[in-house]
Amino acid sequence: MKAYVVEKYKKNGPLTLVDRPAPQVQANDVLVRIEATAVNVLDSKIRNGEFKIFLPYRPPFILGHDVAGTVIEAGSGVSRFKVGDEIYARPRDHRIGTFAEFIAIDESDVALKPRTLTIEEASCIPLVALTAWQALVDVANVKPGQKVFVQAGSGGVGTVAIQLAKYLGATVATTTSAKNAALVKSLGADIVIDYQTDDFEKVLSGYDVVLHSQDPKTLAKSLNVLKPGGHLVSISGPPDPGFADAMKLNGFLKLVIRLLSRSARKRAKRLGVHYSFLLMHADGRQLEQIAGLIDKGIVRPVVDKVFPFSQTPDALAYVETGRAKGKVVIKVG
Ligand SMILES: NC(=O)c1ccc[n+]([C@@H]2O[C@H](COP(=O)([O-])OP(=O)(O)OC[C@H]3O[C@@H](n4cnc5c(N)ncnc54)[C@H](OP(=O)(O)O)[C@@H]3O)[C@@H](O)[C@H]2O)c1
Repeated sequence: MKAYVVEKYKKNGPLTLVDRPAPQVQANDVLVRIEATAVNVLDSKIRNGEFKIFLPYRPPFILGHDVAGTVIEAGSGVSRFKVGDEIYARPRDHRIGTFAEFIAIDESDVALKPRTLTIEEASCIPLVALTAWQALVDVANVKPGQKVFVQAGSGGVGTVAIQLAKYLGATVATTTSAKNAALVKSLGADIVIDYQTDDFEKVLSGYDVVLHSQDPKTLAKSLNVLKPGGHLVSISGPPDPGFADAMKLNGFLKLVIRLLSRSARKRAKRLGVHYSFLLMHADGRQLEQIAGLIDKGIVRPVVDKVFPFSQTPDALAYVETGRAKGKVVIKVG
């Protein structure tokens, strides 16, 4: 099969097109013919080597975290899927590799594709929707009537997080540049702040939850918009000791992470708010619930561009501009 690999960790390094044997299925795996995949900032960070300390891949490895496609083989222990099923998934860490023609995925990471989406639309949902779900439902436990601030509402995560927070009954504020204001309003944002001209810290106060996805300066300002007891969930760092425990990191890395997050944790404590770092994980059952919301019209995908498989490196470069409006899809099949 054809696949794009990272031959060595390097900032802005190339992706190389290679021929690889098709993957073997293990008992609980489905073998999927990939019809479409989507690009995530995580692909860029992994290629750059930014995650190799706690999420190491040995080069050369196939990049890519999102997939929509068709089951063409099922392992002996697979009970939820059969040959011919159209599925979508975010394969678990250490088993990624969706910039390819085929992938074997543990069935517990997989769900049937939302019926109402095209295969390209379905491919752009898993990683960002699981991130929004795990941040807003699992960690922050958003309740009706709460106020939620979603940073970068026009990005991959932001476009889903706005819709999910609205579904959970929250009032939603978001930041974006003026050109994307209409988009985030159409997704349900109640308060839209142009981050290029206005300071969200002067506009927002008394928030229950912040979904933080930007830089450390934005993090410090965001803690100030929370009410006492509020919760900032960061998906862009710094990682916290809870994350180090969950990843079962060694004592040295735990210490490094404690130091990296010390100032954010101290600041949060002084303000009487909670700080958590989230690294999303694969979860087929959550994807089933998300498919249900999509098929009811509660969450919709926002696709910026679709690239052919032969332009996978261009698709990654486009996401790296930081200007993508929703998701960038690669059509494989
Ligand atoms: N920890 C995890 O599990 C996890 C999971 C997913 C993503 N992430 C991280 O979350 C971050 C966002 O990911 P993403 O996929 O949503 O990124 P993305 O889709 O590449 O974000 C692009 C969007 O960000 C907007 N933007 C850029 N700078 C902004 C600013 N200062 N304020 C507000 N909006 C701004 C841009 O809008 P304009 O063009 O209008 O500027 C653009 O629409 C990344 O760092 C990613 O690595 C972490």
